[in-house]
Amino acid sequence: MSATAGAARGALKINDAVKLYEPSGARVLAVDHCSLDIRPGEICMIVGPSGCGKTSLLNAIAGFHGLDGGSIHLDGRMLCGPGHPQADVGPDRIVVFQNGALFPWKTTLENIAFGPIMQRRMTKRTAYETARRMMADAGLSGHEYEYPGEISSGLRRRVEILRALMNDPSVLLLDEPYRALDALTKSVMHEALLETHYRTGTTIFFITHDLEEAIFLGHRVVVMTARPCRPKQVVEIDIPHPRDYGVLTSRRFRELAAEISAVLEEEALKSFTRGEKEGGVQ
Ligand SMILES: Nc1ncnc2c1ncn2[C@@H]1O[C@H](COP(=O)(O)OP(=O)(O)OP(=O)(O)O)[C@@H](O)[C@H]1O
Ligand SMILES: [Mg+2]
Repeated sequence: MSATAGAARGALKINDAVKLYEPSGARVLAVDHCSLDIRPGEICMIVGPSGCGKTSLLNAIAGFHGLDGGSIHLDGRMLCGPGHPQADVGPDRIVVFQNGALFPWKTTLENIAFGPIMQRRMTKRTAYETARRMMADAGLSGHEYEYPGEISSGLRRRVEILRALMNDPSVLLLDEPYRALDALTKSVMHEALLETHYRTGTTIFFITHDLEEAIFLGHRVVVMTARPCRPKQVVEIDIPHPRDYGVLTSRRFRELAAEISAVLEEEALKSFTRGEKEGGVQ
């Protein structure tokens, strides 16, 4: 993997994962025999119809809920599986949510430094030095003493990702982090995320509904089936890294977009027609 030389950890192995919800007797199979190997240092983009089970899979990786079958391993260590259905929540897998979770009463610098200080993994001084350096590397110098409420939503997203990376996770789990952003801010976020990724080599599991985002960022794009989700097609994005926004107008980008959107539309249509027939519950 050219863009991530040196990354040796963050191999995520999802094997036959099953997730079932049974709210008040109704049975919703969200993930069914889903298997996927994510390589160390990979940006793996997940797309699929709305409600197909993407977040359910991410939540199982993060340890927010258990699996009803199958297993998940990270770098050979079983996170969950037979005899241990729910993964522990740990700093090796950090989630960045769409709505963010910065402390509004702390400055951006304090927010980024917070995790390792609280976990006593770094002294205050080292944490602040590291956080300041990360902000400088990410082009955010000058924003250290601003509060989340005083900065743009794009800047908040970047601070959240730095805060996650401060814990040096093996895997970053992103669930539509840029969904609410305008197109221009999104493009800035994408280039910033790639730059950060080239520096850190952290494995990224990234859920999105934005196909352009998926192709621009990903080493691979995994198209999930309509619920219950499992990979329908895994598309290798053979556009070399490092990438910049110029690739969006390339012929290969358009070919990949056409290929992926055809598969995605097929699944979205299934999900739609089934939803009409069954009222959305399986
Ligand atoms: N806590 C829950 N209890 C019951 N059903 C749930 C729960 N969470 C999710 N579901 C159902 O499981 C299915 C998959 O949901 P999930 O949120 O994983 O899909 P998704 O692919 O992330 O959707 P979206 O693209 O809209 O974010 C949906 O039918 C949803 O209604
Ligand atoms: Mg979701």
